[in-house]
Amino acid sequence: MLNVGRLNKSYLTVSGEISVLKNINFKLDEGEWLTIIGRSGSGKTTLLQCLAGLIPADQDSHIQFEDKLIHEAKEKDLQSYRRNDLGFIYQDYKLFDQFNCELNVMLPLLPFEDKVKLKDKAHHLLQKVNLTERIEHYPSQLSGGEKQRVAIARALINDPKLLICDEPTGNLDQHSRDEVIQLLKELNRTGTSIILVTHDQDLMDIGQQTLELH
Ligand SMILES: Nc1ncnc2c1ncn2[C@@H]1O[C@H](COP(=O)(O)OP(=O)(O)O)[C@@H](O)[C@H]1O
Ligand SMILES: [Mg+2]
Repeated sequence: MLNVGRLNKSYLTVSGEISVLKNINFKLDEGEWLTIIGRSGSGKTTLLQCLAGLIPADQDSHIQFEDKLIHEAKEKDLQSYRRNDLGFIYQDYKLFDQFNCELNVMLPLLPFEDKVKLKDKAHHLLQKVNLTERIEHYPSQLSGGEKQRVAIARALINDPKLLICDEPTGNLDQHSRDEVIQLLKELNRTGTSIILVTHDQDLMDIGQQTLELH
């Protein structure tokens, strides 16, 4: 599903070039779970952003998702790649405080799909993450664990093949962390591929592969 070869990424800054990712190689099969660990600043977020085509990898890097060559794709194709194939979950949820849960979940596809259908799907997904009673609530009325479950529902609105999770349990207590991981495991069991970035040693061995960035 995902094939990454000789991936390099450096940032140009006013004080010179910083080389962050050096010769990263891995493959992810459909349905697999890859866990990525590494100290703060080791390049985990940078790697995820390269995989999603949000930032360009250095020249001669190879990033292939199914038959799409992400490293050389045009912005328009990268947008449809993200919209059709990927879901994202972040440490700080990235919900919109001015919108209720239902609308937060619908947002990624709101400009592209029928509103009534989307609303139905949002309800179904919020039920799936056990938040049926919270559909009309706003993020400020939710706990961290609940916010993250809304964010998971949102990430699923496009039925992504690959879910990219950047330290999704970093702000959660142990109970909420376990709920979120349980949900991710269920999604993985039903076929969604997962890349999980984490600091949490307890989560290191979930999945078929663990990659450590130095
Ligand atoms: N836009 C940027 N410009 C310059 N340096 C950056 C930029 N983004 C990240 N970095 C640097 O790249 C390194 C890796 O950052 P990051 O990928 O966020 O690491 P992690 O997610 O593992 O904490 C850090 O040293 C960070 O300061
Ligand atoms: Mg990071």
